Amino acid sequence: MGDKTRTAGFMAMKGAGYYSKATTGAKDVMDEAAHLVIEAVERMQPADDGSIFRVSDMGCADGGTSVDLWRRVLGHLRALVPSRPIEVVYTDLPRNDFSQLFRMIHGQTDVKSYYQEIDNLYVFASATSFHQAIFPAASLDLGFSSTASHYISSTPCHITGHVHMVGAKGQERAAFEEQGRIDWETMLVNRARELKPGGRLCLFNFGIDEEGRYLGNTGGISMFDTFNQLWAELAGEGVITPEEYLATNFPQCYRTVEQFTAPLKDAANPVHKAGLRLEHVETRVVRCPFERDFTENHKDAKRFAREYLPTLRSWSEATFLGGLKPERDAQERQAIMDEFYGRYQARVAAAPQGHAMDYVHAYLVCRKER
Ligand SMILES: C[S@@+](CC[C@H](N)C(=O)[O-])C[C@H]1O[C@@H](n2cnc3c(N)ncnc32)[C@H](O)[C@@H]1O
Repeated sequence: MGDKTRTAGFMAMKGAGYYSKATTGAKDVMDEAAHLVIEAVERMQPADDGSIFRVSDMGCADGGTSVDLWRRVLGHLRALVPSRPIEVVYTDLPRNDFSQLFRMIHGQTDVKSYYQEIDNLYVFASATSFHQAIFPAASLDLGFSSTASHYISSTPCHITGHVHMVGAKGQERAAFEEQGRIDWETMLVNRARELKPGGRLCLFNFGIDEEGRYLGNTGGISMFDTFNQLWAELAGEGVITPEEYLATNFPQCYRTVEQFTAPLKDAANPVHKAGLRLEHVETRVVRCPFERDFTENHKDAKRFAREYLPTLRSWSEATFLGGLKPERDAQERQAIMDEFYGRYQARVAAAPQGHAMDYVHAYLVCRKER
């Protein structure tokens, strides 16, 4: 299997801080649900025994979106266990901009870090996939991940006539769901092994809610259909080749609540056998901040389009670039991206109604059995 289908070979959010600057909605998701993590920590009733308390933010990107959640969680933890050194381990894939993350932590960006506010705090990073073992067994107190577990380890097949599994049909849809099932269980089994008895795992996952809604598809114009139409348009005009269009597939699986919870409920499943138990699950929709600002405040379609597109680009560009032939040089690749996102922006500016990247998440809290 080559880098073209293995997610770790090409995936990264847009670097140099672009991701968290543009994707303020992902921050809203975490800020509004930080209480779930704080409550999980309280239920752990951690002993103030001077031992290391290790937490991890898995699939952290540049760290800018989770910084305020961690300020609150770590502040709470510091008060709860004043004698314990706290280790924060950020994890993502090898192509992630970890340099930006450390610059943020150590106050070299315009994002306000929590690092100086919490004493006896130690920050590290790992570029090992969350589908693999990241930590030694029974060494993790609190695992956390937001808006990341929908990334699967590889795309199982090309999707005919679409770029995302939400538009796939029949066997292709089934193949993505099966890869999603395998990766989800692998991730949970690894975390179950790494968590200390009584430890907690808090996951805010992109998914499909009880009403069939998912990211950018909450009743208006579907974002993934728009991506697909514009990418197909470029193929139709010869800007990209038909092979490049076919090779462009988001390495993602959006799961339902049933799919998320099945391995945690089935006593015969390896996840359940490994001692991971479901404590809490709920779905929420968090409104697109750019659409809200447009609708409720400025009502300027051009401004909405200009402010909205970077958030789409921050996380999707790696997938569209990944579909292009490796022979294309950097300038050509960039020109195609600019044309593609430029067309999306023009579309929104011309007819803004219905465009929105509302976030649809399933929030899970799991406990490792004692
Ligand atoms: C949409 S971003 C979310 C970033 C941040 N957690 C947030 O909520 O804003 C998804 C992140 O997950 C990372 N990711 C994808 N697959 C991963 C894997 N197998 N292991 C670790 N990180 C992964 C991506 O590189 C990306 O940085």
